[in-house]
Amino acid sequence: MRRLFLKTAPALLAGPALWLMNSLAKRTATLPENADITETVPLAEGNGIRFYDKVIVIADAEGLAVFSSTCPHLGCRINGAEDGELVCPCHGSRFNARGQLLHGPALRNLQPLPYALDKARSVLRVSLNTEQARSR
Ligand code: FES
Repeated sequence: MRRLFLKTAPALLAGPALWLMNSLAKRTATLPENADITETVPLAEGNGIRFYDKVIVIADAEGLAVFSSTCPHLGCRINGAEDGELVCPCHGSRFNARGQLLHGPALRNLQPLPYALDKARSVLRVSLNTEQARSR
């Protein structure tokens, strides 16, 4: 039994290893060129505003928009919407679905983030490089 296992184990492990290497190669091919810091979020069907850790994804009649969830006022995480407007929970800044500032105290629009669509996995790989550069 042990000999049989030792003979067949490499063949059994080769399949998953090849699949993993192939998957990683495909994933890398879909990244934005300079994206070394990313967040992967599910690509949900239908329109709506979806909040993730560092990313807000908005799908509507105008298409797909991806923004940093970091409020440009003092950096709170924007995690809610009212009447189609994104609302910061800390001091009430409001933004429209295109990330444009509607009401302060923030003085800037939300930061749009570049993303790559991976239809095979139904995910968006969002580059956070822009956000990192902004916070330095
Ligand atoms: Fe968002 Fe102040 S941190 S309004």
